[in-house]
Amino acid sequence: MKYIVGNWKMNLSVRESVALVRGVLRSIQGCEQLPHIVLCPSATALSEAHKLLTRTHIALGAQNAGPDRAGAMTGEIGIAQLEDVGCKYAILGHSERRLKFAESDELVRERLSAVLASDLTPILCVGEPAEVRAAGKEEAYILKQLKLALAGQKIPKGKTLIVAYEPVWAIGSGSPAAPAQAMAMHHVIREYLKSEFKLSGERVAVLYGGSVDGKNAYQFLREPEIDGLLVGGASLKIEAFGQILDSACEVMQAQLSV
Ligand code: 13P
Repeated sequence: MKYIVGNWKMNLSVRESVALVRGVLRSIQGCEQLPHIVLCPSATALSEAHKLLTRTHIALGAQNAGPDRAGAMTGEIGIAQLEDVGCKYAILGHSERRLKFAESDELVRERLSAVLASDLTPILCVGEPAEVRAAGKEEAYILKQLKLALAGQKIPKGKTLIVAYEPVWAIGSGSPAAPAQAMAMHHVIREYLKSEFKLSGERVAVLYGGSVDGKNAYQFLREPEIDGLLVGGASLKIEAFGQILDSACEVMQAQLSV
């Protein structure tokens, strides 16, 4: 099963968000083999999006969460509030949070811990900056991010941990990683989660993100090592996002008929 996650970031009014949710619902009509689809609008639009997504095959996700269920944390959105508006997933540790808002590995760990204790499924983002890759140190960098986020955590039975590999240099740049680069890193991530947390099969999913569009999505999705995509800019355009969903449906249909 593939995952297609749309991260709308700090974009769209409530009205525009509702229109896009409707567009995505229309675009999956007639698709027999649907991937897990998660839409992550801005916090301002979560409630309205939830009304449209109830009893559909599309889940709602938040762009950040916690680091607690509720409390004195100005500007944050508590896990209980996210559950209240129907969120089932939460993106954590996005590089825009880490770099622009100085979210530390420790804070990402706390957020992950709160999400793991809730009904939400975490989508933990990791990704190396360009200079780290240029120095050939990307594997060590990603493993360190994973290790710090997961330090002391227990992944409850029945919970899926989703990790999104999003190289910083590929985000919003128009230059995605080569599928081979993504696959190599996905292998490293998967092996780590298997050896340290005994996570395998349905309990773990590794997604790729960074300049995915309607044209290149298929070349990532056809690789078994790539469980899905975390899409930014292209998830705001219904045509491109529709093509990405079609690619996922096509790959999953092909896998069924093997
Ligand atoms: P783009 O798809 O716009 O490169 O963004 C990727 C991303 O950051 C998704 O979380």
